[in-house]
Amino acid sequence: MEKLIPMVVGNWKMNQTRKEIEEFSSTFSSKCSQFKCLFGIAPQAIHLSLLQKNFESCHRELGGCSTPSLFSQNCYFENKGAFTGELSPASLKDLGVDGTIIGHSERRQIFKEDNELLRKKLKNALASGLQVIFCIGETKEEREGGRTFEVLKEQLNMAYTDLTLQNSHQLITAYEPVWAIGTGLAATPEMAEEAHAFIAEHVNSLLKFSSNNSKTHRILYGGSVNPGNIEELLSKSHIHGALVGGASLKADDFIKLCEVANRFS
Ligand code: PGA
Repeated sequence: MEKLIPMVVGNWKMNQTRKEIEEFSSTFSSKCSQFKCLFGIAPQAIHLSLLQKNFESCHRELGGCSTPSLFSQNCYFENKGAFTGELSPASLKDLGVDGTIIGHSERRQIFKEDNELLRKKLKNALASGLQVIFCIGETKEEREGGRTFEVLKEQLNMAYTDLTLQNSHQLITAYEPVWAIGTGLAATPEMAEEAHAFIAEHVNSLLKFSSNNSKTHRILYGGSVNPGNIEELLSKSHIHGALVGGASLKADDFIKLCEVANRFS
């Protein structure tokens, strides 16, 4: 299996003021040149341009990818029109945004986004040239009912069946068990690895590539990742990085996460 440079992505959700972003950026920028891992941030959409400006000095190429990456947390499945309040993937691309998260469990649960809608969003985001971090994961009830793999399979089938990609960088899967998000209760590395191995195998059977470029599909783990548990998670062979909420908000913690990821780069 090809060894991927780990990737750490901060999902800031509906947090961070401009002042907090300025403080984060100045602390982070002074350290970013030492990072050999890939890293990115998904701020609120209104702050994408600010981060783009603040991260300019950190920019470089690593393992065929440019880093840092800027992600939106969501976008719509149409590029323009009468869709008040929605975010256009084409406009994100035009702004120089690298990618988007789609299917985060907060979108699925709070905003009732179903597999059908998420498939449309995924397809259009990819067609618009955005890299997509597609999130999947089971609830506590589903895990306790022994349905984890069934749920993951269904979410993947709905999203990835008949999807043809040009290259493996375009699409990243994030395994985020819903019960682990924001709870301080991360999956054990063994539990996460078991799910990642299942996802890797299933994704492999679903995805097609238009060119002969079937590199390893990147799978991030998300759910209560912090500087104290990321090392053990990244030591697992199918875990290629982390999608981090709470612990990505403070520059010092985010730097620590990247420092650990560096050791696996
Ligand atoms: P958490 O969030 O790290 O705060 O659990 C992760 C996520 O929602 O992506």
